[in-house]
Amino acid sequence: MTVAHPLRNPFTYGEAVADDAFADRARELGELEADMRNGQNVVVIAPRRYGKSSLVRAALSRQTGEGLLVVEVDLITTPTKERFAAKLAKSIHDDLATPVFRARERARVFSSLRITPSMTVDTDGRMTFGFSAARDPGDIDATIERLLELPAEIAAEKRKRVVVYFDEFQEVTRLDPHLPGLMRSVFQWQRDVSHVYAGSKRELMHRLFNDRNEPFYRSAKTMEIGAIDPSVFAPFLRSQFDRTDRGIGDASLDRLLAVTRGHPHATQQLAYALWEEVPEGFTASEGDVEAALRAVLRAENARFTLVWDSATPPQKLLLQAFAREAGRPFTNAYRIAHELPPSSGVQRALRPLIAQELVRKEQDGSYDLAEPFLREWVVAFAT
Ligand SMILES: Nc1ncnc2c1ncn2[C@@H]1O[C@H](COP(=O)(O)OP(=O)(O)OP(=O)(O)O)[C@@H](O)[C@H]1O
Ligand SMILES: [Mg+2]
Repeated sequence: MTVAHPLRNPFTYGEAVADDAFADRARELGELEADMRNGQNVVVIAPRRYGKSSLVRAALSRQTGEGLLVVEVDLITTPTKERFAAKLAKSIHDDLATPVFRARERARVFSSLRITPSMTVDTDGRMTFGFSAARDPGDIDATIERLLELPAEIAAEKRKRVVVYFDEFQEVTRLDPHLPGLMRSVFQWQRDVSHVYAGSKRELMHRLFNDRNEPFYRSAKTMEIGAIDPSVFAPFLRSQFDRTDRGIGDASLDRLLAVTRGHPHATQQLAYALWEEVPEGFTASEGDVEAALRAVLRAENARFTLVWDSATPPQKLLLQAFAREAGRPFTNAYRIAHELPPSSGVQRALRPLIAQELVRKEQDGSYDLAEPFLREWVVAFAT
């Protein structure tokens, strides 16, 4: 638990948040915790920076308090199968074997692996695992297969419940197109293990779990995470201000949330900048919100300028259109209103914008800019 400090900025962005920095996603948390307890597999899908990692971590940390064990691999950090195996081995060692085994037993955990990992201890006493590339490529697959079996075996032996959690799971196909098949063949026997797969590439994640030709077809329930409702975010922001020597009024709160629309990362980023604008002992005014927004746009200017400069003319028209209003760029009404090219041109321009996660297709089928600050930047500097 972080200790409140009246002179320290109470907002955080850029990494997963917990405890006091976490605004309650009560419904999602409750559901996720129940699924973990029941051994239900879950796919958590949300756009980048919406708080997937924070949500899964929050649910996990509440459950670990009740004796649940967690094996966790973030696939963004594992560009090769050897790295993937190493991260898996480390989590099995640190998070599963260490709490339940004595040192001597622990040493035997990896004795059944085809490739024996190198284990080094760094100066902080933390263990690092490594698997060198094998001569026979089948060896690393056999090793991964065995590692994937271990959590369920250890949990059963020690009568513990275990969650196996993969963050940025869509990267799995990049490691090896056959890896999902291998994983699924192991996991399908693990009835008591809850597998949690988080990912940000919506289409890829949906394909992995909802296409009947994919190994993970219908093997997990899908949970899509949206923005945080302003009715939840507003009291959170206010209480964060109130913990310090600065405050915020209703009008400023409304303006801040009108800009970010409850986008979790953007809301914390703007709130952080706003807190910095307010002098000690004062309450944030609407003018302070505008100044904070200008500061954020200045900080993001280099990135957005690059986006803008590398966009083609039809892409610029699309970015301007979505900055004005979200909508359906394939309908005549929207195309005419925003002077867009014919449908085929829209299609060609749109696809790379979606791939770069600048534009997002909403669940209702309309399209919008993915980032609130890009919208503000386009409106301020490129229209
Ligand atoms: N429940 C929450 N309450 C308050 N802020 C949140 C919450 N969830 C996310 N945030 C904000 O959003 C930021 C991103 O959160 P997090 O890293 O969990 O998202 P993510 O979806 O895993 O992002 P990425 O796509 O980068 O992996 C956090 O640093 C925090 O500022
Ligand atoms: Mg994340």
